[in-house]
Amino acid sequence: MTQILDGNRTRDQIKEECIPRAQAVYKHARRPPGLAVILVGTNPASQVYVRNKTKTAGEIGIYNETLSPDPSITTEDLLRLIRILNIRNEIDGILVQLPLPDHIDAQKILLAVAPEKDVDGFHPYNMGLLATGRPGLRPCTPAGVIEILKRNHIPIAGRNAVVIGRSTIVGKPMALLLLEENATVTVCHSKTADLPGVCRTADILVAAIGRPAMVTADFIRPGAVVVDVGINAITERARAEQIFGPGNMAAFEKRGSQLVGDVHPGDMARLASAYTPVPGGVGPLTIAMLMRNTIEAAERRTGLC
Ligand code: GUN
Repeated sequence: MTQILDGNRTRDQIKEECIPRAQAVYKHARRPPGLAVILVGTNPASQVYVRNKTKTAGEIGIYNETLSPDPSITTEDLLRLIRILNIRNEIDGILVQLPLPDHIDAQKILLAVAPEKDVDGFHPYNMGLLATGRPGLRPCTPAGVIEILKRNHIPIAGRNAVVIGRSTIVGKPMALLLLEENATVTVCHSKTADLPGVCRTADILVAAIGRPAMVTADFIRPGAVVVDVGINAITERARAEQIFGPGNMAAFEKRGSQLVGDVHPGDMARLASAYTPVPGGVGPLTIAMLMRNTIEAAERRTGLC
């Protein structure tokens, strides 16, 4: 029977585990763990993500503030803002929501976040800890993928894992985390020769490309575990009909758009032994892991661990 890997359930478990840890920080340091989120600009998806992040933080008992500087802020002024957050004792985690507007040097900004407060795990220092197998703050989405696999008793050690996508946020850290779990890892990208053929060698296939339903039946070995990291909105009726089939258009008709991952949903459901649905798979885990990273940062900073 096909196993659907339920990200909402895993998120709820992780959230529950965070609550007593947040309370322990409070008891020990006489303050809650603290998270600062910086949101520059009016990207609607970013606004939704940030609202969800701060709402979840509140539910767990994490103090949080959202800083929304004027969209015309310069790189220098944003750096000043980060330096202030770096030295504020009650802030354990700093998250700069991406993407930043084009006029801001995102690399400079991410480099300025104090590594011990880098709850996104994007700082080269934290990437270096991951690459060298040392404990540290791990990027949330790939860490969430490992969590959902483990909590659903999917073996990783000794399996062939194929990651499609080599981004700094997902693909590269995903490959390193799978390696840390003793998988045999292949990373594919736009220049990979015979991409479907390489993907068919996967026991665990992770798609993180950002292209709607690009991974189709010819990429999936029957019985593989498929993790779909993509979240893409389909707004074109013909494309939606192509992906979901003419008999499955009710959700699209209702909203005028529909979410789809990087994997063709029908092919994935038909061929995989286990898979993460979109929505409701990997998406909810990113926020849960951000909460866990914030608490871990607070525990380290307050001397609890
Ligand atoms: N934008 C899309 N995903 C992410 C993420 O995981 N962290 C941040 N900071 N921005 C994002």
